[in-house]
Amino acid sequence: MLTDQKKYILSIDQGTTSTRAMLFDHSGRKVIEGYKEIDQIIPHSGWIEEDANEIWNSVLSVIASALIDGGIHPEDIEGIGISNQRETTIIWDKETGEPIYNAIGWQSKQTAQLARKLEADGYSNLIHKKTGLIVDSYFSATKIRWILDHVAGAQERAEKGELLFGTVDTWLTWKLSGGRYHVTDYTNASRTMLFNIHALRWDEDILKLLNIPAAILPEVKTSSEVYGTTQNYQFYGIEVPIAGIAGDQQAALIGQMAFEPGMIKNTYGDGAFLIMNTGLKPELADDNLLTTIAYNIDGTVNYALEGSIFAAGSAVSWLHDNMQLIDNVPESRQAAMNSTDNDEVYVVPAFNGLGAPYWDQDVRGAAFGMTRGTTRNDFVKATLQSIAYGTKDIIETMERDTHIRIPQLMADGGASRNRYLMQFQADILNIPIIRASDEDTTAFGAAVLAGLAVGFWKDIDEIKGFVETGRLFKPDMAADRRSKLYRGWKAAVAATRTFRL
Ligand code: G3P
Repeated sequence: MLTDQKKYILSIDQGTTSTRAMLFDHSGRKVIEGYKEIDQIIPHSGWIEEDANEIWNSVLSVIASALIDGGIHPEDIEGIGISNQRETTIIWDKETGEPIYNAIGWQSKQTAQLARKLEADGYSNLIHKKTGLIVDSYFSATKIRWILDHVAGAQERAEKGELLFGTVDTWLTWKLSGGRYHVTDYTNASRTMLFNIHALRWDEDILKLLNIPAAILPEVKTSSEVYGTTQNYQFYGIEVPIAGIAGDQQAALIGQMAFEPGMIKNTYGDGAFLIMNTGLKPELADDNLLTTIAYNIDGTVNYALEGSIFAAGSAVSWLHDNMQLIDNVPESRQAAMNSTDNDEVYVVPAFNGLGAPYWDQDVRGAAFGMTRGTTRNDFVKATLQSIAYGTKDIIETMERDTHIRIPQLMADGGASRNRYLMQFQADILNIPIIRASDEDTTAFGAAVLAGLAVGFWKDIDEIKGFVETGRLFKPDMAADRRSKLYRGWKAAVAATRTFRL
């Protein structure tokens, strides 16, 4: 290694409930990490918002703490990669940089009615064909419409070009660069429900349909290129290239080195997101999966199929925060192992509706199968199992749609550290699970994107050379038991969907 070579790539992973900054060295090793939680603002039941300035400040703070704790000089950073919670929508004033409304979170349901209206008016097919997405309040489009409708004067100001829209990547790049670059990447654009994934541009018909002025939209770039540099006053007096951007789930796919068509990963974060690399052609699924952009590293767009489960790790946090059934999240594993029931309790944590393959935005959570003997351990176990069952729903749908039998699943994300969950996942799917050796695959993926763009790493082969293979969980459940348990889950979901307040 040359002595004048810079030593690190800084990766910013801005997620739903926390922000992290990590520094990776040339051997792909995470050297140090900064971490900060983000407050969720719940103005009404089902709405989830965040303060966009808090998000930005958290980024500054985690970078500072990583640098200080690691004793690292900012000059040693060769490039910055960003991975981010996707779909979350921010609109701000181009001149002052002040957001005109809170960031509307991806899980937020205030636009459910608007999404239903688009469906009722018969636009589902058109939107699916163009964007690869199912019409749902999950995506940015209806959230933009909502802000323009609810903030006085916003539509007019947007039309005059005074406002800017961005997902979190766009907001952070704009802030880091002192307002010089208003950009996003293909992966994030493909989650807005405004981006034509075939023509690879903002879709004029959908913009017209939702009356969203094109002037507010960022320029769409590849996931790995130098978009610009940090503004020196925002970054320790120096200009460092911002060189990688991907939505967090796509970043995890990259971090898992899943570059071959057919490879599939599940990131067990607050939600769980399964993404299958489908190669160069967008496969439009007929069965309620999303077609989305996996990455564009060297000018070539790779597509993916995605199934999103809205409540995964967040359901385990709920056991702690709201239900107070566990003292901390890791304790859920021991509780599940201590459960002595026969797996007859089912929890369906549809706190914000159900994602793939059901796409039912109005349904709420439920629990089934409890007896006088049911314990908190059984309830905790059933909540963990719900994540595995939800994953099976999506894997079965993917296999049906692609006619490809999925031989194994790569796992990462915080909840993948739970060994009970991983083993039950292997059992219920009846395929091996390979858990990434480092759970921070998402941040590593963003580092890979930036590192390739600035020549920190030569190519993907160099990176593959140092990524370690993770732990294997082999399936070990009798077929009849597996079918019986899964039938129970299907019945629980079906019953949950019949309940309406
Ligand atoms: O689509 C939403 C997803 O990007 C959020 O990921 O890890 O912040 O829950 P996470």
